[in-house]
Amino acid sequence: MSNVHGKRGAFIVLEGCDRTGKTSQCKTLVSKLEQANVSARYMNFPDRSTQCGQLINGYLTRKDDFTDEGIHLLFTLNRWERMKEMVKLLESGVNLIVDRYSFSGVAFSSAKGLDMEWCKAPESGLLKPDLVILLTLSMEALARRGGFGDERYEVPTFQRKVIEKYSMLKDDRYWKAIDADKTFDDLTADLYNEVLRTIENVGEKPLEKLW
Ligand SMILES: Nc1ncnc2c1ncn2[C@@H]1O[C@H](COP(=O)(O)OP(=O)(O)O)[C@@H](O)[C@H]1O
Ligand SMILES: [Mg+2]
Repeated sequence: MSNVHGKRGAFIVLEGCDRTGKTSQCKTLVSKLEQANVSARYMNFPDRSTQCGQLINGYLTRKDDFTDEGIHLLFTLNRWERMKEMVKLLESGVNLIVDRYSFSGVAFSSAKGLDMEWCKAPESGLLKPDLVILLTLSMEALARRGGFGDERYEVPTFQRKVIEKYSMLKDDRYWKAIDADKTFDDLTADLYNEVLRTIENVGEKPLEKLW
């Protein structure tokens, strides 16, 4: 759908710990929107395709090492790399469905012990999402899903800390928590409702900045 009404796109982020279904749900949501003739684009962070993303990939796959502060700043820079493009897409009416964003960056780094305010500072000024959907799973449901991967961070004890940090970052003015412990299709239906409502309500609201 072209931007016939001059309306900007909505910026929607899915957050949550590993294996809550973020990646598969984001992609499914984009397909559903496109089928309904609503212009939408999938994006994810970290974006391993950029120069900075290559360094992040080396770190996540344990080939390279950085200090906690250093890798935090690389994850942030990876978002700054995509900002101009994101603004352009939103202004042209494309809805962005984004798989992780600054909240993952801050939750993961602060879960390692870095000061949360220090972690938030370089994210300040990035685009603020219209809606953050936090996918939640109880520790029992998460264990049932099992099969964490081999990358750094994919360890249940670390994931528990991340969940705690998300709850500190949660801002009810633009966050919505949704229990992911249901069938894939039932969860898609819940998410799609929230996404459509946000797209409809974005109206003349200007784009805002984070923190
Ligand atoms: N609602 C669900 N119920 C059971 N398993 C699911 C559900 N959603 C996703 N999964 C499975 O969980 C795993 C992680 O999904 P993924 O979308 O990669 O999550 P994330 O991006 O949050 O890590 C996949 O193997 C997927 O098939
Ligand atoms: Mg994923």
